[in-house]
Amino acid sequence: SASTATNITWHDGHVTPKERAQLLKQKGLTIWFTGLSASGKSTIASALEQHLLHKGVNAYRLDGDNIRFGLNKNLGFSPEDRTENIRRIAEVSKLFADSATVAITSFISPYRADRDSARKLHADASIPFIEVYADVPVSVAEERDPKGLYKKARTGEIKEFTGISAPYEAPENPEIHIRTDLVSIAEAVQQITAFIEKFK
Ligand code: PPS
Repeated sequence: SASTATNITWHDGHVTPKERAQLLKQKGLTIWFTGLSASGKSTIASALEQHLLHKGVNAYRLDGDNIRFGLNKNLGFSPEDRTENIRRIAEVSKLFADSATVAITSFISPYRADRDSARKLHADASIPFIEVYADVPVSVAEERDPKGLYKKARTGEIKEFTGISAPYEAPENPEIHIRTDLVSIAEAVQQITAFIEKFK
């Protein structure tokens, strides 16, 4: 894609992706969670990261805590800011995956077009991109409401809250679809690890 800067050139290193994977005995990929607030995406992402690390697979989770407090602290929740949030996360996850790490992202990522851009970014670099839909009815997420945000969204204290006053565009063709109110965390982790076996 176009860059604002001029007079910049891409610099290739001395190690090819294939060689890196051989040297580290690991292939990188991105596991992209999407779902409502309180859908359980971060819970499953954390359990997955732990499971992979215990198996000796280098996995690293990107989520609100390390991104919206740091890299993306200048972004809010307007449609434009969410798009920019997801664009940067897609670029960072691609870099982690390119370093032969299993990148696990856990963001609402409510817009289909933004997730598709993330997917394309990975496809263009021949890096596997696995979209995991943490699916739960809004009513269940609202009942969980661990941070009391749904309540604030209902009273209007929080504007543009996903699922209440801002859109969530559900994936049409995710690689993995998990109904988090019907499946245990362990089962969800098992489903994902079984799926990524084929990329070994
Ligand atoms: S997005 O849409 O992908 O850019 O959102 P994300 O970076 O994942 O941030 C979602 C978390 O921010 C809190 N929060 C809100 N969510 C949705 N809408 C609004 N307006 C909002 N304001 C704050 C909320 O706690 C989300 O946390 P999770 O972990 O998803 O529950």
